[in-house]
Amino acid sequence: MSIRDATAMSVGADGLVPKERYVSQEFLDLEMEKLWPRVWQVACREEELPETGDYLEYTIGDQSILVVRTDPGTVKGYFNTCLHRGTRLADGRGNFGDGQIRCRYHAWRYALDGQLTEIVDRHEFPEVPSDLRLHEVRAERWGGFVFVNMDRAAEPLIDFLDPIPKLLGPFHLDQMRFATYRTTILPANWKVVVDAFNEGYHVQGTHPQLLAWTDDVNMEYVQFDTHAHYGRLAHARRELRPSPRLGLRDDEIDEGAILSSLVSGLGGLFYREEREIVDELRSSPLPPGTSLLEAYQQRRMEMLRSRGLDVSGLDRDKMTSADDVYWFPNMVGPTYPGTAILFRVRPNGLDPDSSIKDLWTLQWPGPDEPWKMPERKFYPDWTAKDWGLITNQDFANMAHIQAGMKSRACHGLRLNPRQESNLLHMHRVIDRYLTA
Ligand code: FES
Ligand SMILES: [Fe+2]
Repeated sequence: MSIRDATAMSVGADGLVPKERYVSQEFLDLEMEKLWPRVWQVACREEELPETGDYLEYTIGDQSILVVRTDPGTVKGYFNTCLHRGTRLADGRGNFGDGQIRCRYHAWRYALDGQLTEIVDRHEFPEVPSDLRLHEVRAERWGGFVFVNMDRAAEPLIDFLDPIPKLLGPFHLDQMRFATYRTTILPANWKVVVDAFNEGYHVQGTHPQLLAWTDDVNMEYVQFDTHAHYGRLAHARRELRPSPRLGLRDDEIDEGAILSSLVSGLGGLFYREEREIVDELRSSPLPPGTSLLEAYQQRRMEMLRSRGLDVSGLDRDKMTSADDVYWFPNMVGPTYPGTAILFRVRPNGLDPDSSIKDLWTLQWPGPDEPWKMPERKFYPDWTAKDWGLITNQDFANMAHIQAGMKSRACHGLRLNPRQESNLLHMHRVIDRYLTA
């Protein structure tokens, strides 16, 4: 099958998603030509650029973009290339101390707003116009994230994100701050990595230990125009139930044990003191007519309020129900009251078999805790760190998925039409870009 065919067909006549979309160099090249230069993507968070002159380099494929705070209220993005002979102007992150972006090679200089301000031996460049500026990319912000888009004609970010701002607005992501920032390299296509966090179908196969406190079967999958959601959207978690796959009778279900596993098992999503609240509720009689879940939700709401957090937009059920959102094309993860775990995944350079994964946890800073940017940790080899059981299990699958698809006998992916519907949706949205 030619790559152009694989593009026009998220699903082939055989009902399969062509594997070329995950394993071929040509398909990645096509994404690099048509998807990544046109789509809004998260470059960083605002708190990474607190001061005027702060910059940060965001890379996607072989492209590098400089995100710069040009004044207290403005963040701009530039292609990271000198107008003289193309040298990358800066890397990593830092501050353009004197308000000048200075090329390391022949010392051409630019103001923070991109204006070329100095050409060394100017008189020898009579042809160069005096109003040259660095090539700008669109940079817009929502929820504390700085998004960039290389397409000057792209729709406004807020329209692209719809309905995420509506859905996640009450969680005030803009008031959250990084709690941890880790990055690793995974041996699989970027979409393989995204897929692993965009469905619950693999829970029984990969994370059987979760079934005791997770109803993996009754998850809902909702596709929006561009983005998607999984978990309970219409009605939040009202009961503490294990997976129906375990076939337990009602009298075999211990709600207290489920709640306690939920709070400790999803580690990063709950505050440390919440385990104590669960223990306390389990060991004392509940107010009459109140379930354990309701009592806990009430306590959690009070705890968040006492930390000075605005929970006015969140109902009680939301206290124990994350919104798992797939932010097309490459960010996925649960947002909870007070916390969020977000994974950003990118191709690693131009390699279809490797990706860069950022694992971010965000938190509302507590009332008396001054926030400080955590150290960004980079693990070039994911096996060098213990990521916790659930993530270790997911990561261990990656190389096998990528290698297995390359088998001569594998022609494509047979997606579960309900539980893996978000994956198919992603392919269809990718095709909107590839065929436009
Ligand atoms: S390449 Fe930048 S000044 Fe020469
Ligand atoms: Fe998983």
